[in-house]
Amino acid sequence: MSAAVPLETFDSVVSRAETDSMKWEKYKGCDVLPFWVADMDFAMAQPIQNALRERLEHPIFGYTYAPDALGEAVVDFLQAEYQWQIDPHWLVWLPGVVCGLAASCRAYVEPGDHIVVNPPIYHHFFDSHEPHHVIDRLPLRCGNDQRWTWNLTALEERLQQGGVSLIMLCSPHNPTGTVFTVDEIQSLMALADAYNVTVVSDEIHCDLVIKPGVQHHPTAAAAPAFQDRTVTLMSGSKTWNLAGLNCSFAVISDAARREAFTAAVQSTVPPVPPLAYTATLSAYRDGGPWRESLLHYLWNNYEHIVHRLAEVPELSVHPLEATYLAWIDASELGVQDVQGFFEEHGVGLSGGAPFGQERFIRLNFACPRATLDKGLNRMLEAIETLRA
Ligand SMILES: Cc1ncc(COP(=O)(O)O)c(C=O)c1O
Repeated sequence: MSAAVPLETFDSVVSRAETDSMKWEKYKGCDVLPFWVADMDFAMAQPIQNALRERLEHPIFGYTYAPDALGEAVVDFLQAEYQWQIDPHWLVWLPGVVCGLAASCRAYVEPGDHIVVNPPIYHHFFDSHEPHHVIDRLPLRCGNDQRWTWNLTALEERLQQGGVSLIMLCSPHNPTGTVFTVDEIQSLMALADAYNVTVVSDEIHCDLVIKPGVQHHPTAAAAPAFQDRTVTLMSGSKTWNLAGLNCSFAVISDAARREAFTAAVQSTVPPVPPLAYTATLSAYRDGGPWRESLLHYLWNNYEHIVHRLAEVPELSVHPLEATYLAWIDASELGVQDVQGFFEEHGVGLSGGAPFGQERFIRLNFACPRATLDKGLNRMLEAIETLRA
């Protein structure tokens, strides 16, 4: 067992200037701190850095297969974390999760068929389909406890009407941070089975359950009787901060579904780059101690936000179990363009509109505490100007 990574590691402010980072370039030359796109301002784990350096010693980067050791590392990880036993042959390697969403639409949805998505949701759920597909938006329900979950009654009513061939889930959910329970997943999968619908489950945030005591359940593992209807999309990219390296995978137990998916991927999706395989293997095999400390750090950051905004009635931070993205209700602010308002005061958040929920903002808190505090100070000052 490797030694734990000290929490202070995540306090280091690493400048991303001169790296063409999307997150930081957006506000280049302006005094706006970025808390929007979902990558982290933390240096990646030391074992991953070492593995990449070692691979660079070899000067050829041609087309590359996924190493057998990577398949084994993923199989072991899913077994250890989620008690999900998969066969390495079920894995299909991809350069991104979004192209897995798009491939699912191409593979399983006939022209004119419908795809169910549950807003508010990561914006690519609205635009990964083909022009001849129809997206049905079935909003999540927000309970009195501010926990967001699927509206299974509305889903059943929609499925009864016919024409739906795919449900696209985000689990854990971006942007609400919900981790779905086994009961919820089993109920949804029973409906999918009754109406012969394929379910693609985007689980890119599954290894980022930060609330202590909460457990992620892969859709396929929580409802094993219906596993063959599922396509699970996963990646080490969010958890180990490797988004720019482009390595993800689909887990598809049913051979026919896997074949259709693979056919949809070929010729439209490039292969995974060799360095991406190297980093991902190291992440799943050697990145455990770093991840463990990261989860603590992120939870502390989330609690810090809740604490600092507790006395601000204009903003309501919704409860969160997973992801590093706080979902904040800003309706009491009385401002039309909330994202623009905070940008004017030096804070670059994601607006709620692309997720399908205009009155919210999303704050990416995967950054050193000092950066987070600068942003929170600016938000509080901005709200003071409104009160004045
Ligand atoms: C739910 C979800 N799916 C997919 C992605 C992007 O995945 P990729 O970069 O692997 O295409 C994100 C990024 O924020 C996300 O939040």
